Amino acid sequence: MSNTLIAPSILAADFANLQRDIEMVNNSEADWFHIDIMDGVFVPNISFGMPVLQAITKHTKKTVDVHLMIVNPDRYIQTFADLGANILTVHYEACTHLHRTLQAIKAAGMQAGVALNPHTNIALLEDVINDIDLVCLMSVNPGFGGQSFIENTYKKVEALKEMIEDNGASTKIEIDGGVTDKNAKQLAKAGADVLVAGSYVFKSDNPTSTIAGLKDLLK
Ligand code: DX5
Ligand code: ZN
Repeated sequence: MSNTLIAPSILAADFANLQRDIEMVNNSEADWFHIDIMDGVFVPNISFGMPVLQAITKHTKKTVDVHLMIVNPDRYIQTFADLGANILTVHYEACTHLHRTLQAIKAAGMQAGVALNPHTNIALLEDVINDIDLVCLMSVNPGFGGQSFIENTYKKVEALKEMIEDNGASTKIEIDGGVTDKNAKQLAKAGADVLVAGSYVFKSDNPTSTIAGLKDLLK
């Protein structure tokens, strides 16, 4: 639990002051930088695309964790590698040939992540768990920041942790959506390795100390 990582989600930042918000994360105790790419097809929202991602990765000093909420992610794997993604997460629900996609992400030099929507059973990952560096459990329906945390997530984290251990895998578990000081500790206790936090960090009065407060909670 002492090593739980915090990944602020840029989706909740002030896009008119992006560089300021990136510097805030750079100078904070945050571990990763979570970047949400939405296509308006897989999810009912469009966030931003390659030019903005390029501007972001130019300034980030932390691990760049890209979460793709797009259909046909295979088309853009090399592009995201070129733009500086360290971890590339695709949605299980958007991949017909998940095993092939995971291999392609790794071949492009990135760590491979798979995200699951709240309704998707973790058992569907068992046959590829040893090929996955990161499982991102969605604790809200993807598409928007600022939604309420879905309580069923705790059970999923515990079951996923057990599956990872049973298979001798080194897969990390990330939780994405509605993370606050109210659920962070319990999530870490259940087995979460990385907590994404958007609104809770960026909409707070002092994002730097909010991040520090989360890290403190998780010590
Ligand atoms: C939701 C995104 C999340 C979002 C989290 O579709 O994947 O990363 O930014 O935002 P909060 O922490 O506000 O729920
Ligand atoms: Zn995300």
